[in-house]
Amino acid sequence: TFLGIDLGTSGVRLLLVDEDGQPIGATERSYHAAHPHPGWSEQDPADWIAALEEAVAELRDQFPQFSALRGIGVAGHMHGATLLDDAGRPLRPCILWNDTRSHAQAARLDAKDQVRAISGNIVFPGFTAPKLEWVRENEPEIYAKIAKVLLPAAYLNFYLTGEYVADMSDSAGTSWLDVGNRTWSDTLLDAGNMRRDQMPRLVEGTEEAGRLRPALLDNWGLNGAVTVAGGAGDNAAAACGIGAQNEGQGFVSLGTSGVLLSARDGYHPAPETALHTFCHAIPGRWYQMGVMLSATDSLNWLARITGKNPVEMTTELGGTLQKPGSVRYLPYLSGERTPHNDAEIRGSFTGLATDTSRADLTRAVLEGVAFGLRDSFEALVATDAKLNQLIAIGGGSASRYWIELIATTLGVPLSLPKSGEFGAALGAARLGMTAATGAAPDSIMTIPEVRKTIQPNYYHRNEFEDAYIRFRAAYPAIKVSQ
Ligand code: XUL
Repeated sequence: TFLGIDLGTSGVRLLLVDEDGQPIGATERSYHAAHPHPGWSEQDPADWIAALEEAVAELRDQFPQFSALRGIGVAGHMHGATLLDDAGRPLRPCILWNDTRSHAQAARLDAKDQVRAISGNIVFPGFTAPKLEWVRENEPEIYAKIAKVLLPAAYLNFYLTGEYVADMSDSAGTSWLDVGNRTWSDTLLDAGNMRRDQMPRLVEGTEEAGRLRPALLDNWGLNGAVTVAGGAGDNAAAACGIGAQNEGQGFVSLGTSGVLLSARDGYHPAPETALHTFCHAIPGRWYQMGVMLSATDSLNWLARITGKNPVEMTTELGGTLQKPGSVRYLPYLSGERTPHNDAEIRGSFTGLATDTSRADLTRAVLEGVAFGLRDSFEALVATDAKLNQLIAIGGGSASRYWIELIATTLGVPLSLPKSGEFGAALGAARLGMTAATGAAPDSIMTIPEVRKTIQPNYYHRNEFEDAYIRFRAAYPAIKVSQ
């Protein structure tokens, strides 16, 4: 059997699959992010390990097949800076992808010669390099002790194997990697005041990163050797999970952040579009994606302040897509990446009236997220990515209403896979399987069985088109007013 570990922003999810890659059992444990100041977002790596160990114990107790474990793959939320001293101990809490404290450092790095050209991307405030610049400027005593910088997935790899190894797909989001050549760049490391010896060894996501440590073999009741794969950033892993390897294959992910991803034949950086161009977890491949920072996060925010449950709120809208309401929501609770690259913008409602109800706000939030994804869609189409059919994944894809709304806004059918809830965990398990068996990635990263395909609602298409135009027009107005 093989184990996929998806280290997410709100919790860790484990998926055990059989020798054919079919799910046997899954479990999850949640943890929190701390926000000690506005715009900050941190997690204690010890919480990841505690959650992982509890989840492993549960899987082991529930599924006897766990004892036949041969391979593990880890997917992680991207860009987080886990700083270790020379004994491998975390020096401070991990600074997460959705932490925007280092936006000034990001803008400075982004303006340096060669940085976009080599990294293939804008240096977004959430990326890793500007976080290290912030630490250098604000926590010099910690900065002086940094022996290694690991992304969250690589930190789990370190816990599992005792080795400092990272995969290409996750490392592509650091602004230290030469993304076209899949290697650390001395120019980028210099620009970010980092050294090569502070970086982990690079492997492809499908390659072996190491073997499970003897102490863990013992604790987990395992006998044989267990291979740990290079693993992946969560989006590359999700792409592996739905078999998106080639041009024309992609997904919409409705998680904390919203992602529209397209696998690309070759490396086609387009930083000016605020798209992300990253290495895939599969050797010799790349992908491109638009990222909006607050997708389900937007709905969860509305749920929190209205004292409601997000699932009830979407269910309350009924099963039939309604035409766009007169309230518009701009989904910039934490700033935005694609297409605006604007850390300081914040969200808005427009069009509120005395008869606006809570359900109207829910509808506006779902529509605003759909329009944000449409912005990423337009950016991808402008780089010649082909998006004729997409798979929908992530927690938000459980809402039939939201999926039909997004299909209509993009004008693209959205398919829901049978095991869609596994996303990145399934991709991680597949990476573990590839690394442990040496099988060709193509034979493992297959397209999942589809449960159903939701077509765009052509009846409301023009109205959504008009509403999207109004959505586009609102950004410049709220930008100047802030
Ligand atoms: C990608 C990104 C997010 C996180 C979420 O660039 O920042 O999608 O990976 O986990």
